[in-house]
Amino acid sequence: MDERFELIESLDAEYGLQTFNRLPVAFVRGEGTRLWDTAGREYLDLVSGLGVTVLGHCHPAVTEAIREQAARLVHTTNLYYVEPQARLARLLVENSFPGRCFFANSGAEANEGALKLARKYHYLEGKPRGKVVCIEGAFHGRTLATLSATGQPAKWEPFKPVMPGFEHVALDDPGALSDAVDEETAAVMLELIQGESGVRPVSSEVISAAREACDRTGALLLVDEVQTGLGRTGKLFAYQHYGVTPDVMTLAKGIANGVPAAAFIVASEFADALSPGDHGSTFGGGFLACSAALATMETVIGEDLPGKAGRLGELLLERLRSMMEGVPLVTGVRGSGLMLAVQLERDVSRQAVLACLERGVLVNNVTPDVVRLLPPLIIGEEEATRGARVLADVLKGLDD
Ligand SMILES: Cc1ncc(COP(=O)(O)O)c(C=O)c1O
Repeated sequence: MDERFELIESLDAEYGLQTFNRLPVAFVRGEGTRLWDTAGREYLDLVSGLGVTVLGHCHPAVTEAIREQAARLVHTTNLYYVEPQARLARLLVENSFPGRCFFANSGAEANEGALKLARKYHYLEGKPRGKVVCIEGAFHGRTLATLSATGQPAKWEPFKPVMPGFEHVALDDPGALSDAVDEETAAVMLELIQGESGVRPVSSEVISAAREACDRTGALLLVDEVQTGLGRTGKLFAYQHYGVTPDVMTLAKGIANGVPAAAFIVASEFADALSPGDHGSTFGGGFLACSAALATMETVIGEDLPGKAGRLGELLLERLRSMMEGVPLVTGVRGSGLMLAVQLERDVSRQAVLACLERGVLVNNVTPDVVRLLPPLIIGEEEATRGARVLADVLKGLDD
């Protein structure tokens, strides 16, 4: 009997809008790779709050940055200059490509801003363009424009009409992508590895085709690194694997280790497209978020966590593959760095997640037939292997 949990659950049931299919647990404390629930039970976290807590829970550098900033100044708005925002913009640009940053509060918001920028750029060129080419299965957010960019028609259905102008091409068809991009196209929006549709990589041919089509037509290449950014795939930003540079890159999730923060970086050539009054945010680029983001990024870069994620990811992928051999329920294991997925033959990912939860390990049922792992980048080999073993045992059990 856990009265604290029962109270939380009943309050949520009575007063919370029921938009989440929650798992039956509430965490009250976290440290590194571990979380503790209301009954004091410990869990190994291989989800990281959906790819957010890249440094693990309550990393001392981030906690200290938040504590120090909260005691000094929390909010003034963008009516005034904001020191940690200016410093963060420099850090982001110095570690990506020459350009400028805008700060928002969520991935969807960063993507909205990027889409607005692309349209404004063409408007200023004297040839307004409305079309945006996206990929089937991609996920770009839940606001109306980013939902329209999201290539999952089932998600549009109850909210129709979605925004006009968004076209979707097949995941692995560079020719179709190339054909879809024309002189009416404002932008191509891409996730390089689709996270929410089950860790599905976009091929390097499609990524090159997108860059070439944008260069040919003057459309902007918007790369959504909300999930892949900040070291998760083995490079600081996933585009760095492909020798292709975006015109705009959007970031959120991992950038402030859990404090809501997002950004888009615009290549210099397009950076004058938005002027005062075109776009804004009351909270975006605030002191707390930017101080937390600075501490997060400095640690990620200073400790070469992308390199570590790449090495550990390879090892873990190999171990997961050998552990899953002879498990008929598992039809594949894939991923890049510490963004990994186990493909199941049947729609039993929620049962797998619940069974892992029982055994003190958090994994994510990203789709009904895919279990996703997004461990913090600070995780060690031993813990990662232990988590993988629990998942393998659970999947074996579901076969019986
Ligand atoms: C690739 C990608 N883009 C955008 C989003 C939306 O981010 P947010 O939930 O912060 O609005 C997500 C969230 O999962 C994502 O994975």
